[in-house]
Amino acid sequence: MDSPGLFVLLCLGVFDQAAASSVEEITWSYSGLIGQSEWSEYFPECGGTSQSPVDVITTQTRFDPSLSPVTPLGYSQHGNQPFTLYNNRHTAIIEMPEWMGLGGLPWLFTAVQLHLHWGNGGSNQRGSEHTINGMSADAELHVVHYNSELYPNMSAAMTQKDGLAVLGILIVTGEETNPGFNNILNYLSRIKHFGQKVFIPAFDIQSLLPEDLGRYYRYNGSLTTPPCYQSVIWTVFHERVQISKAQLLKLETILYSSKAEDPEKMLLQDNYRVTQALNQRVVFTSFSADSGKELSSGEVTAIVIGVMCGCVGLAVIVRFIVKTIRFLKVLHLETVVVNSSTSSWDVLHNNRPAPMPRINEPEKEKQKKQELVLNSSSAADRKDEPSPSCKSEP
Ligand SMILES: *[C@@H]1O[C@H](CO)[C@@H](O)[C@H](O)[C@H]1NC(C)=O
Ligand SMILES: *[C@@H]1O[C@H](CO)[C@@H](O)[C@H](O)[C@H]1NC(C)=O
Repeated sequence: MDSPGLFVLLCLGVFDQAAASSVEEITWSYSGLIGQSEWSEYFPECGGTSQSPVDVITTQTRFDPSLSPVTPLGYSQHGNQPFTLYNNRHTAIIEMPEWMGLGGLPWLFTAVQLHLHWGNGGSNQRGSEHTINGMSADAELHVVHYNSELYPNMSAAMTQKDGLAVLGILIVTGEETNPGFNNILNYLSRIKHFGQKVFIPAFDIQSLLPEDLGRYYRYNGSLTTPPCYQSVIWTVFHERVQISKAQLLKLETILYSSKAEDPEKMLLQDNYRVTQALNQRVVFTSFSADSGKELSSGEVTAIVIGVMCGCVGLAVIVRFIVKTIRFLKVLHLETVVVNSSTSSWDVLHNNRPAPMPRINEPEKEKQKKQELVLNSSSAADRKDEPSPSCKSEP
């Protein structure tokens, strides 16, 4: 092929991309041609001042006592209707039934979908979108809802302030397998490639959440993917959820962002956005900064019991010491006595009196006397038997 032909092809390629741009179907990615740093060229809101994710610097958060626990609604009532799981080239998504929702916010929100962000299994330990004091988690789950009190549907809500509420769940690895996450992970092999979609058995979505839904970070932010609309009320839970290393590895290595028929396979990895400037925003906390230092009733009980045990232990020790001292004093006195007597023995050992048989004699006499007494008393008893006092008894 000659160079003019190549030129035409290149022009066609550019034209294709421009055409796609006009219909907002640009194939953005995390690190490719239209990577994170280029997003804002094609999606202006990605360059906004209220973007997500953010690094939560805990010393710069502000406690808001009015923030009550968020309440998942109907997360456990799946009604045995299968869920739809699909690969959209950027992540694995589960569509959520519209009867699921979220309470505990100023409006009622309706559930839309959940999806995950992760790393590449490398040693950098990154994968979550939100970070806490600069620390990444291994992965992050997002549960997306729209404000169904103010807006008729997701597409109307997603561009509006207070239009969306997203739950952010930080995922770390540990020893134990998390059975809740297997409800997703077990089916990833069926959506390996971009565009693939399967029905999966319904499951309790609440099993993916941390137990403590009362402690979280709250801030106003955006979608973390293009078009980055700044419409999200974010709730990032303080408690992190644990999955096993094997589960994380599966998530990190099983999916492709390429289509099944694409000759060049592209692993779907590192699908997290870097943290964005907080600018003028404040991250609020539902728990006070001191609440970590505040004591729960259990801890108070533990401390009271501990102190009591300590006091009892101390009393026992003090008593033991006092007793020991007394004992030693007595021992000391006895030793003095023994020592003095020993010395007298030593001095008088020649005149030591022989064992005296005299000691036995009085004992024998005593025994004899006792026998006599017994005999006499028994004799007296016998004499007393027919006493009138006894006869008068009946
Ligand atoms: C969402 O609501 C808007 C406004 O009522 C409407 O124009 C649009 O068609 C709806 N979109 C969908 C997908 O239902
Ligand atoms: C989010 O923005 C709204 C409207 O500007 C404001 O009332 C609210 O306090 C903000 N919430 C947070 C957590 O900053």
